Amino acid sequence: MCGIVGYIGPNEAAPFLIEGLTKLEYRGYDSAGIAVFDGNRINVEKSVGRLGNLEKKVEGKSPQGHIGIGHTRWATHGRPSDVNSHPHTDCSGKFVVVHNGIIENYLHLKEQLIAKGHVFTSETDTEVVAHLVEDYYDGDLESTVKKVLNVIEGSYALVFMSEYEPDKIICTKQDNPLVIGLGEGENFIASDIPAIISRTRKTYILSDGEMAIVTKDSVWVMNRQGVPVTKKVFEVHWDAEAAEKGGYEHFMIKEIYEQPKAVRETMSARLAKDDSAVILDELKWNKHDLAAIKKIFIVACGTAYHAGVVGKYYIEKLARIPVEVDIASEFRYRSPLVDENTLTIVVSQSGETSDTLAALKEAKRLGARTLAVTNVVGSSIAREADQVIYTWAGPEIAVASTKAYTTQLVTMFLLAAYMAGIKETVAPERIKELIQGLRNVPSQIHELLEDVEPIKTFAQKYGFNEDVFFIGRSLDYAVALEGSLKLKEISYIHAEAYAAGELKHGTLALIIEGVPVIALATQNDVYEKTLSNIKEVKARDAVVIGVALKGDTQIDKYVDHTIFIPHTDKILAPILAVIPLQLLSYYAAVTRGCDVDKPRNLAKSVTVE
Ligand code: F6R
Repeated sequence: MCGIVGYIGPNEAAPFLIEGLTKLEYRGYDSAGIAVFDGNRINVEKSVGRLGNLEKKVEGKSPQGHIGIGHTRWATHGRPSDVNSHPHTDCSGKFVVVHNGIIENYLHLKEQLIAKGHVFTSETDTEVVAHLVEDYYDGDLESTVKKVLNVIEGSYALVFMSEYEPDKIICTKQDNPLVIGLGEGENFIASDIPAIISRTRKTYILSDGEMAIVTKDSVWVMNRQGVPVTKKVFEVHWDAEAAEKGGYEHFMIKEIYEQPKAVRETMSARLAKDDSAVILDELKWNKHDLAAIKKIFIVACGTAYHAGVVGKYYIEKLARIPVEVDIASEFRYRSPLVDENTLTIVVSQSGETSDTLAALKEAKRLGARTLAVTNVVGSSIAREADQVIYTWAGPEIAVASTKAYTTQLVTMFLLAAYMAGIKETVAPERIKELIQGLRNVPSQIHELLEDVEPIKTFAQKYGFNEDVFFIGRSLDYAVALEGSLKLKEISYIHAEAYAAGELKHGTLALIIEGVPVIALATQNDVYEKTLSNIKEVKARDAVVIGVALKGDTQIDKYVDHTIFIPHTDKILAPILAVIPLQLLSYYAAVTRGCDVDKPRNLAKSVTVE
């Protein structure tokens, strides 16, 4: 997730570009840049770090001109650095582009362009787009951009500017937002509304596949075939704060709704087109590498630890390597049995969690190979680990982790299926079946998010209970752990998760009339056993909310309410089953009037021990 801005009109472009980027910093903040045409040439200024660094750099000498584009970056391909910052230019510097998203086939395109003599200066996927424009330019930027769109694959919001045609900006989008702000004799472009509402409240919201030619006096919107599209003006009535949250009340709910996209971005470039394999170019492991791994530790904190619990199941089930999951603050002090035959995987959204970083250093000191799964490119953990797989969730602002967790689950699955493919521990048909199932997950999450009313009602009904229990077996237990943490941290309700079979060893004493129990029953191999545990709590008059797969015709007989999730393979069920639990926590917190995005005593990134 990055922020994009553009300006064309009679005023100086740079002040708007900087102001607009400030409003979009929540979309990414590891580097920023602007490009402005001064009448003769395009001048580009960029700087790594927060936007303040760029502001300082251009203070008193910002590029002059009336047309320009800008970008604030959240790195995915290429670490945060001056050269990797956008805007990116071609070899001649006559074309300039900013991009939000991922160009999935960039490596292949880059090789072709290098063979033709193009010289690349950055590690980004975006730079290929600038060189493609240069390569294809036929004297008309519009038709050139269309040709480029025919060869790139992936998700994008792209904005182009050229010295050859300095009276226009061209922009287009696929799976990433882009709005055009309509002014008087001037027009604005942005990836989100907060960047433009100080200038205009009249907008066009571009749809996927649309392209716009923006001049100072006009905006032409068309589809990729060049057929004009009539857009309705969307009047923005939100205040600046609501606009930053995309019209949602809180960042947490916005991020819950971003999950279909986050999950899609994390997986799609890593799946073979024919669904036969997972491709992790960042690892490039072979049979020999995997044979050397006798044991895996997954080490993390909080929600990331819960993703590790699912990861253990995935790796053991699919790749048949023994896995131990550990809490980072425990691992680092307990003399773990780690050596050069151990792979230590650390999982961290922020990449800065002090305990996780220390555990990683300890594993390295003991001679282990290390792999980080993190959301922040260039973070301390990413730099320290031998290898990294990035989750591409985009920045997570709410303290309670949601989209980072689901993308961590996806990454754990990808890693396990990748290893299984190399080790041949799973039949090719089964790998294919799982990959096909995974491809459906983004739309299935979307489906779940379309009807939240029943969950809202449960939250309102049970949101004032002081204790809630979550139970499940196998992967359902792993999800129960995450569901209970979510509820605790944002609604301050005491919540506990138990392996359903453990209840009778003590906890059942706490189950009395009216206590809500969320029972997950998505795993067919332990389904009957889970039903017996549900009967145990029902017999003590608990109120049971079941979470089950669509098509389950039994569960309703044993529970008070059921939340159905779309039908999927049991291995993939956690990625869907957690969604109603996130929603339940969110609406319970709202019902109780809690500060959802900033729960008491908590911080987003825990950089102290
Ligand atoms: C809970 C939550 C925390 C984090 C934990 C680790 O919603 O967000 O439990 O998961 O503090 O943080 P990272 O993943 O940044 O290492």
